[in-house]
Parts: sequence; C-alpha cells; structure tokens
Amino acid sequence: MKTVLLAGAVCLAAWMAQGADVQELWKKNCASCHGPDGKGKTKAGREAGVVDLTDAKVQEKFTDEAMFKAVKEGVKEKDKTKMKPAERLNDKEIKRLIAHVRTLKK
Ligand code: HEC
Repeated sequence: MKTVLLAGAVCLAAWMAQGADVQELWKKNCASCHGPDGKGKTKAGREAGVVDLTDAKVQEKFTDEAMFKAVKEGVKEKDKTKMKPAERLNDKEIKRLIAHVRTLKK
C-alpha cells in the first residue's frame, strides 16, 4: 500500500516538474486578452488591440523567436505597454505556449 502511494507521488512530482498543462497556462495567462480560442474577441482583448492569432496571415508575420521575445519581454508601442512581459512563466512554458499558438491557426 505504501509503495503504491509513493509511486503515485513520484508520478505527480514528475508531471508537475514538466509544467502545468499548456491549455491551463493559456487560460490563466493569455486568454483574458487573446481569448480561449486565440481570436482576441474578449473585452480586454479589444481594449488592448490584439491581433487575431488564429489568422494564418497574422502568424506568418511572426517567427517563433519574435513570438518568444514578445511573450517574454512584452509588446510595447512607443511608451504604451500593449502586452505585459510574462514574468511568471519560464522559458520552457513560453515555448510550449508558442507551440500552442501555432496550433490555433486555421
Ligand atoms: C493585456 C492583454 C494581453 C495578455 C494578457 C496577453 N497578450 Fe499577447 N498580445 C497582446 C497585444 C495587445 C498584442 C499586440 C498585437 C499587435 O501586434 O499589435 C499581443 C501580441 C501577441 C503575440 C504576437 C506577437 C507580437 O509581436 O505582436 C503573441 C504570439 C502573443 N501576444 C502571445 C501571448 C501569450 C502566449 C500570452 C500569455 C502568456 C499573451 N499573449 C498574453 C495582449 C495581451
């Protein structure tokens, strides 16, 4: 019985070390502006002026590196911050979110 519990705990720890589920990360950190589907049709999204991330033409404009930089360092226009830097996320999580954004493309 004890070993079974221990094995379970080890599995959970391994799963957590991998980082939370990418959908969860998206929901928690990005969906408020970009929307659950990436279209950015949320109130905050409209106010911030987000682009439609599901649009193939929009995605073509950004390389993975540019997206990474945008998420990590934020997006600014002159002195106005359009998207805040994702300070709570580590590089691995950001990479997974970029990969997630790529899957939103129609
Ligand atoms: C406060 C609202 C807000 C939040 C939260 C937000 N974004 Fe953005 N995001 C924006 C705005 C505004 C833009 C700029 C659109 C433009 O290019 O004019 C943008 C642009 C982008 C771009 C395009 C790259 C670029 O240079 O424009 C990507 C990719 C992106 N966001 C991903 C994310 C990810 C991943 C998260 C979660 C970690 C996130 N965003 C959270 C508002 C937000």
